[in-house]
Amino acid sequence: MEELEHVVVAVQKSPTHRHIARALIARLAAIESAKRGSPPDGREKEIIKAVKNKLHQTVGAFVEGRPDYKKALRALAAAAREEDAVAREERIRAVLQQAMQFHASTRERLPFLESFYRDALRDISPPGRVLDLACGLNPLARPWLGIPDEAEYLACDVRADLTEFVNGVFAACGWKGRAFVRDLLSDEPLPKADAVLLLKTIPCLEQVEKDAGARLLARLDAPHAVVSFPGKSLGGREKGMRENYAAHFLGMLEGTGWKQRNFVIGEELVFVLSR
Ligand SMILES: C[S@@+](CC[C@H](N)C(=O)[O-])C[C@H]1O[C@@H](n2cnc3c(N)ncnc32)[C@H](O)[C@@H]1O
Repeated sequence: MEELEHVVVAVQKSPTHRHIARALIARLAAIESAKRGSPPDGREKEIIKAVKNKLHQTVGAFVEGRPDYKKALRALAAAAREEDAVAREERIRAVLQQAMQFHASTRERLPFLESFYRDALRDISPPGRVLDLACGLNPLARPWLGIPDEAEYLACDVRADLTEFVNGVFAACGWKGRAFVRDLLSDEPLPKADAVLLLKTIPCLEQVEKDAGARLLARLDAPHAVVSFPGKSLGGREKGMRENYAAHFLGMLEGTGWKQRNFVIGEELVFVLSR
């Protein structure tokens, strides 16, 4: 529809949203337009505003301001040139921790990074390939995962600026793997993996489509998955949020064949799935 094309172009023009995959913008334009009846004549402005609001809630809000990714990559390159191996590893980790602060989800996990992955991956044999869905800046946590150096780390997010930065980090650190742009609401097949990470993202997807979590779960091609939920919104602690997500997700798992164990670390509710 021509009106929807106008909406997509208008949203893409905004500096805050220009890095977001077109597929998601077009999907939201169609959803917001359908809510207002068809044809949505004369309601373009209203639809553009609604699309931008949804993009802010589900994508934009997690990265505040304009992180200086180039500066972080320069610091990483300098750290990687350090000759002493122990000092090099320490410096690289320090730069990565600094950069993980750019994204709210990794920032919240930083104090628990080591124990988070020790607990989450303890029953999973060392994976040959990890797939990190809606990754944010979590791929920067790779040294804390304790996975083999030769393991491949694939990651995707709907924001191209994030995946570009993650690819720069992988190149600077000489890690095997790559990041790519993907709207997880689309039904495109996902790469096969030994372990999938789907951290704090189901609620974002379900804000757009109610069945998005269940649909995504059904598309995973992996024997193990670590799926987590936030215990508080970006604004602060919300009473009962974890309990509600736990009940919702356990319901979603029924009849799927996944076995689960779960634990809470910091504010995050973590499910480890195996089948
Ligand atoms: C709450 S953050 C979690 C980030 C990361 N998984 C973590 O826990 O550190 C949600 C992430 O999902 C991404 N996202 C939102 N909607 C998406 C979609 N439709 N497809 C793919 N990624 C999406 C956002 O850009 C954001 O980085």
